[in-house]
Amino acid sequence: MIDAVRWVRTPENQHEVHVLDQRLLPLRTEFMVCRTASDMATAIRDMVVRGAPAIGIAAAFGVALGSQSWNPGAGFSYQQHMEETTRLLGATRPTAVNLFWALERMRALWATPVIGDPSGLTGSLFLEAQSIKDEDIRMNRKMGDHGQALLPDSATVLTHCNAGALATGGFGTALGVIRAAVSAGKTIRVFADETRPYLQGARLTAYELVEDGIPTTLITDGMGASLMAKKKIDAVIVGADRVTANGDVANKIGTYALAVLARAHGIPFYVAAPFSTIDFSLQSGSQIPIEERSPREITHFGPDVRIAPEGVSVYNPAFDVTPGEFITAIITEKGVFRPDEIRQLAPKSN
Ligand code: MRU
Repeated sequence: MIDAVRWVRTPENQHEVHVLDQRLLPLRTEFMVCRTASDMATAIRDMVVRGAPAIGIAAAFGVALGSQSWNPGAGFSYQQHMEETTRLLGATRPTAVNLFWALERMRALWATPVIGDPSGLTGSLFLEAQSIKDEDIRMNRKMGDHGQALLPDSATVLTHCNAGALATGGFGTALGVIRAAVSAGKTIRVFADETRPYLQGARLTAYELVEDGIPTTLITDGMGASLMAKKKIDAVIVGADRVTANGDVANKIGTYALAVLARAHGIPFYVAAPFSTIDFSLQSGSQIPIEERSPREITHFGPDVRIAPEGVSVYNPAFDVTPGEFITAIITEKGVFRPDEIRQLAPKSN
């Protein structure tokens, strides 16, 4: 299975985290070696690792790396150092809530007062980050089981962006549902949107599905409507970066258009996301901070080839919000819910 974020112990008994460089896929498989929280913050900000659950896992390991590099002689207490580590990692990408969820879960460990040398917590922090990753894989498999039951024995599914093993601890959310359906013996064909402008669909989703031998056709983002009109799509399945209490969903830019199209054509529109993607503190999608990314992603093809004229204005939000009313169901590890049922799933403390 593709493993985007790996915890490694060196022969010198140091911890490293090896992050698969998704910017190079599918042409090259290389890992960025992260030894500090700052390395990990760079990996998240620069999209070496991306996808909401994978960002959360990477941030959790970033906290553990931060603990490892605490130097008592530098003049900051362990708690001050860890607070700054958390701030650094939290400032990388704003939309996926899993990042902040993971930082808070790690805080519960490092903020607990300890007797003696607090750097002794480093080992526990790495174990906690690994637990977050292992739990994510288990949740994805459960989501897969719940979600695959929604698909007919033979189905053509449209997906957008990459919500696969690369975007998670492993197996995937939306792609996990597709994988589970295939494992259950269903005949599944996939249309994968290329996903402008960063091309996660063309580079990452197509790569994962081709590797798995799942029949996949790559299309540009504007082709979904005509395929739906021709009755070539039985369901749309996407992941999520943040789900709010009212069942609105932030996901990769272009998702909202697909949901509206699906509604217009009477096609079910499913979102697969773990509970760590639900932000019960926000009442609606309009409160979700939406990341705006570099104009170069639109004006250039790849890193260097300019395709738009100098001087043109560019608007490049990385995500949009799909109102819950356009979503047939949200598939989680705890079951399948209508968007208007999400609020009542909030943990009692919220
Ligand atoms: O900008 P990215 O690549 O981090 O965005 C990821 C997405 O929006 C995915 O579509 C996804 O559904 C969330 S991760 C499972």
